[in-house]
Amino acid sequence: MDRNLYWHLPGVSQAERVQRNRHRAGVVWFTGLSNAGKSTIAHALERVLFDQGCHTFVFDGDNVRHGLCADLGFSADDRHENIRRIGEMARLFMEAGVISLAAFISPYRADRDRLRDRIGRERFMEIYCRCSIAVCENRDQKGIYRKARAGEIRDFTGISAPYEEPVAPDLVLDTEVDSVNACVDRVHTLLQTRGIVTGSTAHI
Ligand SMILES: Nc1ncnc2c1ncn2[C@@H]1O[C@H](COP(=O)(O)OP(=O)(O)OP(=O)(O)O)[C@@H](O)[C@H]1O
Ligand SMILES: [Mg+2]
Repeated sequence: MDRNLYWHLPGVSQAERVQRNRHRAGVVWFTGLSNAGKSTIAHALERVLFDQGCHTFVFDGDNVRHGLCADLGFSADDRHENIRRIGEMARLFMEAGVISLAAFISPYRADRDRLRDRIGRERFMEIYCRCSIAVCENRDQKGIYRKARAGEIRDFTGISAPYEEPVAPDLVLDTEVDSVNACVDRVHTLLQTRGIVTGSTAHI
């Protein structure tokens, strides 16, 4: 369909942004059950990266539902659209030179695969926060598992809605066993391996 849309080429190149920022851009996408530790690890990692001088931003679950995705619920269709929109946002941030950290249950494999295609496999890192439902339920500070069990929350991932485990994630974090710091270290190492940041100074 011809909608009279034209792509305006940017005046500032990616290479110029990398040179100024002294790190590359990318999207670190945390997936896993509620309470698996996605937000905890994403924010702790952001602190490390930020302190190293990196440009970072955390896209976090419920926060985007107050604005960007305020019109969406938790049906399968709305969850697909929620992830698509955040993915597009993270992609724009990537173009702006930012390392985005996204902490969303993102239960559907197809959605995550689409993100990888859209963002590019060299810049997209799927991090699976693996944790059994029993342990997640035990960490129920927000009381949401209790409400889900009582039927007060519908379409709750792991209880009344599916979670499709990643088949070939870039990293699996065993958040039942490994400490938050150990998990953060592993993702940071992955960012170094991918050439997004360097060791302790993040200067490339
Ligand atoms: N190794 C670990 N990694 C991350 N979190 C851990 C770990 N061990 C214990 N926790 C605890 O588990 C809880 C994880 O909660 P968090 O809000 O990060 O989960 P989430 O995956 O973002 O859930 P939601 O999808 O509901 O937003 C926190 O209370 C955290 O302190
Ligand atoms: Mg969270």
